Amino acid sequence: MNDLDALPPDFRWGAATSAYQIEGAAAEDGRAPSIWDTFSRTPGAVAGGDTGDTACDHYHRWPADLDLAAGLGLDAYRFSIAWPRVVPLADGTVNPAGLDFYDRLVDGALARGLTPFPTLYHWDLPQAQQDRGGWPERATAERFAEYAAVIAERLGDRVTHWCTLNEPLCSSWIGHLEGLMAPGLTDLTAAVRASYHLHLAHGLAVRALRETVPGARIGIVNNLSPIEPATDSPADLAAARRADGHINRWWLDPVLGRGYPQDMVDLYGVELPVRDGDPELIGAPLDWLGLNYYFRQVVADDPTGPVPRFRQLPGRNPQRTAMDWEVHAPGLEELLLRLAEEYRVPELYVTESGAAYRDTVDADGRIDDADRAAYLEQHLAACARAAAKGAPVAGYFAWSLLDNFEWAYGYDKRFGLVHVDYPSQRRTVKRSGHRYAELIRAHRAA
Ligand code: FCB
Repeated sequence: MNDLDALPPDFRWGAATSAYQIEGAAAEDGRAPSIWDTFSRTPGAVAGGDTGDTACDHYHRWPADLDLAAGLGLDAYRFSIAWPRVVPLADGTVNPAGLDFYDRLVDGALARGLTPFPTLYHWDLPQAQQDRGGWPERATAERFAEYAAVIAERLGDRVTHWCTLNEPLCSSWIGHLEGLMAPGLTDLTAAVRASYHLHLAHGLAVRALRETVPGARIGIVNNLSPIEPATDSPADLAAARRADGHINRWWLDPVLGRGYPQDMVDLYGVELPVRDGDPELIGAPLDWLGLNYYFRQVVADDPTGPVPRFRQLPGRNPQRTAMDWEVHAPGLEELLLRLAEEYRVPELYVTESGAAYRDTVDADGRIDDADRAAYLEQHLAACARAAAKGAPVAGYFAWSLLDNFEWAYGYDKRFGLVHVDYPSQRRTVKRSGHRYAELIRAHRAA
């Protein structure tokens, strides 16, 4: 049994989801398509041709889903708000039905003792904004600020903890450079410009939230990886430095007020569309930082490959999830300590941590996912070790409350503490969910 005693007494225990992955109701109550509706309809883009049209039908089943979360003993719920529900089209008109949904959800969470942690953007850009150029264009950041202000106005009397963006790395690098996520581009210039305007959108949203919600606790969520060079050759060491820039520093430095890392600006060779005042907006002080942790990266030099010229090797630990991601809990401790020590972040949340495994439902309907339960324990223990060494770790959100639409992998990859049988939409708490509940109870009792 792992020792979680070092976690602070007021540690928040949560689970996370995101709108497009669970809500379904894609064409209901005035929601317009997002880039993920478009991408998932692009032949070959998503495994099995899956889409988020129905997903977990959470749009209709949210009360029962919040009951499940509360039943596990959680005290926080991280979810995202779908911009295409709230401001569906390019003309900026607010869709009251979309806003009402999140109003009910927030009230429902609070009524169950769950602190809501809404994320304003978890990858579902309205297609109407994409049609006007999307994240490579500055106007998209400005439209995002308007949307953020609408949400702040409506929910700011009840929501204290706010997250602007989820994993802008994925939106930028995977969506605009690698082409494996919406909008599916492979263009370095577009990707770098997208990253810049996502950061600007974050900064503008922080300003809008601060103006409207006094006392708001605002953060941004990044997915980061510890980087290890494949060998200690100078070429691999340099590749590791580039990988650290591409995966970590590009996403931390500007939002923590340090500006963009010059080595990466030089390497990308794309002019950043900076205007007066942007760096201050982008780097405005935050109350907390969210870390989504899944794996480390072992990298080697790739001199003839595309910028940033490194390749990822399989990690050294043979334990793998169904995503073929290496299980490496010490990497979480390492990142938390780095954020505390090098970046001096005042408060840290693990905003996502979890694993896909090939779950099986046994004859009496149980899901005995011992591997996922062990994964959770190992990663919570890593948080506790980091806390014992002084990292201000304030909470942990398991990814995910429910099995859901895993982006380009479709429904095949299950990350939930709760199993979803998609045809019947029946929910069953897995062994990992029960184990998580036990750990929460034990921590509270201590
Ligand atoms: C993260 C995403 C989340 C989920 C997990 C597995 O990158 O934020 O939506 O897909 O990975």
